[in-house]
Amino acid sequence: MTITIEVPLADRSYPVHVGAGARELLPEMIPAGATRAAVITQAGIPWRVDPGIEHEVIEVPDGESAKSLAVVEDVCRRMARAGYTRSHVIVGIGGGVVTDLAGFIASVYHRGIRFVSVSTTLLGQVDAAIGGKTGVNLPEGKNLVGAFWQPSAVLCDTDTLATLPPPEYQSGMGEVAKYHFLGGGALDQLDLDERVAACVQIKADVVAADEREGGRRAILNYGHTLAHAIETAGEYHLRHGEAVAVGIAYAAEVARRLDRIDDARVAEHRRVLSAYDLPFRLPDALDPGELLDLFSRDKKAIDGITLVLDGDNGVEAVVGIDRDVLADAMEAIR
Ligand code: GLY
Repeated sequence: MTITIEVPLADRSYPVHVGAGARELLPEMIPAGATRAAVITQAGIPWRVDPGIEHEVIEVPDGESAKSLAVVEDVCRRMARAGYTRSHVIVGIGGGVVTDLAGFIASVYHRGIRFVSVSTTLLGQVDAAIGGKTGVNLPEGKNLVGAFWQPSAVLCDTDTLATLPPPEYQSGMGEVAKYHFLGGGALDQLDLDERVAACVQIKADVVAADEREGGRRAILNYGHTLAHAIETAGEYHLRHGEAVAVGIAYAAEVARRLDRIDDARVAEHRRVLSAYDLPFRLPDALDPGELLDLFSRDKKAIDGITLVLDGDNGVEAVVGIDRDVLADAMEAIR
């Protein structure tokens, strides 16, 4: 039994199927007319799903290092040598690293070919695989090169979550915790399939309202400004969802100092993070001054430092926050 959520984007609308065994729907999701598939995955992903058409499997390096321009070039060259054209399809099977990379390759190969995701991690299912943000990292920061490229379909198979290493599952919970503050309410009361589907539904609604992040979509980055700085400064030693959890706790402290929320709401943030067994303190090794410097390299930093903050109108982007406020809030999470 799967739950289907539509991401409504006019002629680029697509379904997201969530549930145990959803991967088996892959042959039905191959776009009409596609005769051949390049299946991009990693050796460490224990799922091989048959797209039901002629295909080759292209394995990219394990881990975050796969998200590089060098890997994009390598995969594109392999596809060119194998004769892939715009009438073919890319299938990405894996977590956020694979779907970000495979989606980006789909956006640039022959100026864009169709793309289907089979998402096999919690983090991917509730966030990375949905909404068409694709890209790779630079040494200067995460996701600094990318494109908006919507998939034709996304399969979120919750069977695959059972084989995730516990720390990786836990990391996905950092993104799930985020949705509590984006109108998700008591997500922890739902069973896993319903919880994933509820997160996908929130994301689909936000993406439908603002596909290219002209405004509202920035709320999906709740907790992410500090998270990205932690990941850059810490060379990715903290898992993404854990870094997001610390970033959510930090955003609450900043919002409190700007009188946007009260102490009870700050405590509510810590309660939700604790309920998911997530951290809300900065690792000791990180230098707050360096993290603050990294904020200005964030893609949202258009008009001074911008953070996504909670408040009476819900979560929204707030521009031009004073560095003293940011530094003081940093002390509160040490
Ligand atoms: N992960 C944030 C977004 O998709 O907009």
